[in-house]
Amino acid sequence: MKHIVILTENDLPTQWYNIIPDLPEPLPPPRDPKEGPSRVQNLPNLMIGECLKQEFSNENWIDIPGGILDLYLKAGRPRPLFRATNLEKRLDTPARLYYKGEFYSPTGSHKVNTALAQCWYAKQQGFERVTTETGAGQWGTALAYASAVTGLKCTVYWVRSVYNWKKDRLYFMKLLGADVHASPSPATEFGRSLYDKNHDHVGSLGIAISEGLEDSQKDPKATYALGSVLNHVLMHQTIIGLESQKQFEIFDDYPDLVISCLGGGSNFGGFALPFVGDVLKKGKKTKFLAAQSQVAPNLQGTYQYDFADYAEITPMLKMYTLGHKTDMLPIKGDGLRYHGCSPILSLLRHKGIIDTIAYPADERHVFENAQLFMETEGWLAAPESAYSICCAIDEALKCRETGEKKVIAFNISGHGFLDLPGYESVLGLRS
Ligand SMILES: Cc1ncc(COP(=O)(O)O)c(C=O)c1O
Repeated sequence: MKHIVILTENDLPTQWYNIIPDLPEPLPPPRDPKEGPSRVQNLPNLMIGECLKQEFSNENWIDIPGGILDLYLKAGRPRPLFRATNLEKRLDTPARLYYKGEFYSPTGSHKVNTALAQCWYAKQQGFERVTTETGAGQWGTALAYASAVTGLKCTVYWVRSVYNWKKDRLYFMKLLGADVHASPSPATEFGRSLYDKNHDHVGSLGIAISEGLEDSQKDPKATYALGSVLNHVLMHQTIIGLESQKQFEIFDDYPDLVISCLGGGSNFGGFALPFVGDVLKKGKKTKFLAAQSQVAPNLQGTYQYDFADYAEITPMLKMYTLGHKTDMLPIKGDGLRYHGCSPILSLLRHKGIIDTIAYPADERHVFENAQLFMETEGWLAAPESAYSICCAIDEALKCRETGEKKVIAFNISGHGFLDLPGYESVLGLRS
C-alpha cells in the first residue's frame, strides 16, 4: 500500500486555478457603503496592482511567473500527500484518509504560497515595504519571510491576545527583519483610539487589518498584503489543491469528502477549490466541510454585505459574516477567529456546496484529536490545523459506524512547533 506521494520539481503546477468563471452564479462585486468616500475607487491605492487585476479576472487559469515558481521551489514545493495508514488502523475505520502536508514550509504554514506571490508582485511594482495583519502569527511570519527573500521591508500588526503568548514566533518574525506591533497598537491613529482606552485590548483580525491599511496608506513606498479572504489570495493557494489532484491520480483514488479548517478561507479554498471545480464541471459528487470554532462560526453567520475590517477602510464584501465589530473570545486556534469569510466560499456555502461544523470554545476535543494524530502519524499540527484533523477523525469514526469506505482528504495547513504553550494550556501537559 502506498503511504505517500512526493511530486518532483517538474510536477509543480505552472498555473493557478481561478474558479470565478465556473461559479454557479456571478460573484457579487465589492460595494461602497451608503455614506462616506468610495472604498471601491480607493482599491488601487490599497492593493498591489497585479493582485487587484487578478481579483476581478475572468480567466480560468493564470500563469505563475517563473520568478514565483522559483520561490515556490525554494520554499519546499511541491509538498507531500500522505495516506494516514496508522491513524486509519487506530480508528479501526473503513474510511481511507489522506492529508496534505502544508506544514512542509520554511515558516510553518500554507501562508507562504500567497506571501511569496504578493511580495514578488509588490517588488516588481517598485514598492519598498509591505504592511499586514496577523492572527495566529503564521501569516505575519510568512510575509516577513517573503519580504526578506524578495528584498522588501515588512511591518506586521499582530492581534494582541496571540502576540502575548507566542513569543517564539515574535522572535522568528524579528529574525526575518520584520517590525512587529501588538494590535491594537499606539503606532496608528486607529490603533491608538482603542489602545488608549484599554492597553490590554485583546484585538482582532478586523482591527489589525485596519491598522495595516492605515500604515500603508500613509507611506507611498508601502503597500498592503492581505493573508486571506480575497479572491486572488485563494487563487494563489490553489497550488495546494492542484498538487493534491495530481497526487490522488498517482494514488489512484479520489476524495468523497474534502475537509479543512476555515478562518478567512485561504487554506480551505486553496485545497478545496480545484475539487469544487471538478464538481461544477465534471459532475464529481465530492462534499466539502469547513471546520471552525464556535467563537467565530463565520460561515454560520448571515450572508450579506459587510466590511472586511473594523475601521471600515475596505469596501463591503458579500460574505457570511458575524458583523465586523463583533467581539470574539480568544482561542488557541486564533487564526480561525475572523468575523467574515471569503466571498467565493460564501457563495459556495449559499449554494449548498460547502457545509460547516463549529467546535466548542474550550478546544479540548480538537486538541485531543490532534494529539491522537500525533501519536499515530507523528506530525504536530498548528492549532488551526488541529480543527481539520479533528473533523477528519470525527468523520472517519462515523464511517466505522456505517461501514462506509469513504475517501476523506484533509489539509494540514501548518505545523505547531511554536504553538506548544497552546497545547499545554488546553490539555494540561504539565501534570
Ligand atoms: C496554520 C493556519 N491555518 C489556517 C489558518 C486560517 O486562515 P485561512 O482560513 O485563511 O486559511 C491560519 C490563520 O492564521 C493559520 O495560521
